[in-house]
Amino acid sequence: MSTTYDFTGRTAFVTGAASGIGRATALAFARAGARVAVADRDTGGLEETARLITDGGGQCLALVCDVTREDDVQAAVDATVERFGRLDAAFNNAGVEQPVQPAAHTGKDGWDRIIGVSLTGVFLCARAQIRQMLRQDGGGAIVNVSSGAGVKGFKGQAAYAAAKHGVIGFTRSAALDHAAEGIRINAVCPGIIDTEMIRRFGDTRPGGREGLIADEPVGRLGKPEEIASAVLWLCSDDAAFTTGTALVVDGGQTV
Ligand code: NAI
Repeated sequence: MSTTYDFTGRTAFVTGAASGIGRATALAFARAGARVAVADRDTGGLEETARLITDGGGQCLALVCDVTREDDVQAAVDATVERFGRLDAAFNNAGVEQPVQPAAHTGKDGWDRIIGVSLTGVFLCARAQIRQMLRQDGGGAIVNVSSGAGVKGFKGQAAYAAAKHGVIGFTRSAALDHAAEGIRINAVCPGIIDTEMIRRFGDTRPGGREGLIADEPVGRLGKPEEIASAVLWLCSDDAAFTTGTALVVDGGQTV
């Protein structure tokens, strides 16, 4: 990441931080000077992210948290504020992939799992963060993770696309609810980013990894750091006039 932002003295909170885009964004916030709370249900990956941050000289609080659990989410936000005093930026990024499957073959359990993590989890996190930002001076900025599947349909991805479209609807409406209170709420829509999720997904999809690359007009997969860069911009003062947007960062995939 070549552009640098200054988050010195600020606190950032990242979910799904044990892997992929979440880890890259947590590291980027730390490099930009933020104190970072990292949350995930994967304790091993979480410890590794925390180690990478502290080895780089950053301040980090690791929080085991299942974003589908209201109590876990509230406890994680409370622990962040208790440790660091406030919450300035949040990236609600935890999510799970859907195996390629036509809508008619999508079971209710699979549907509930994807909506539960990728949509309800975003709502629970954002709500707890907004409540904290309303209590402190200076408001804050929240970014929710959507997807290319939040702006168009994808064959075999009905539940995932429903969750990711839902994230954009929630983001736009919550942004209007709290715009006058100094809280900006945006979404980021990544294209196909080279993470563990995409390695797993590529294995189940006809055409595999090569097929995924062929779906990207720029001829390569995105890097987690390229999403981190967009999230830091959205949370920075440079984006002070930007709220309720869904920023597509996708190598042209959905154009
Ligand atoms: P990843 O699988 O590498 O990381 C996802 C993280 O979320 C993991 O650390 C996992 O433990 C965590 N997580 C899952 N369920 C959780 C829960 N209930 N509570 C707490 N943590 C939980 O995936 P990746 O690729 O980094 O994806 C991050 C987000 O970006 C996801 O929401 C995904 O849907 C979205 N996205 C990813 C794209 C890609 O191409 N990689 C494209 C568009 C969106």
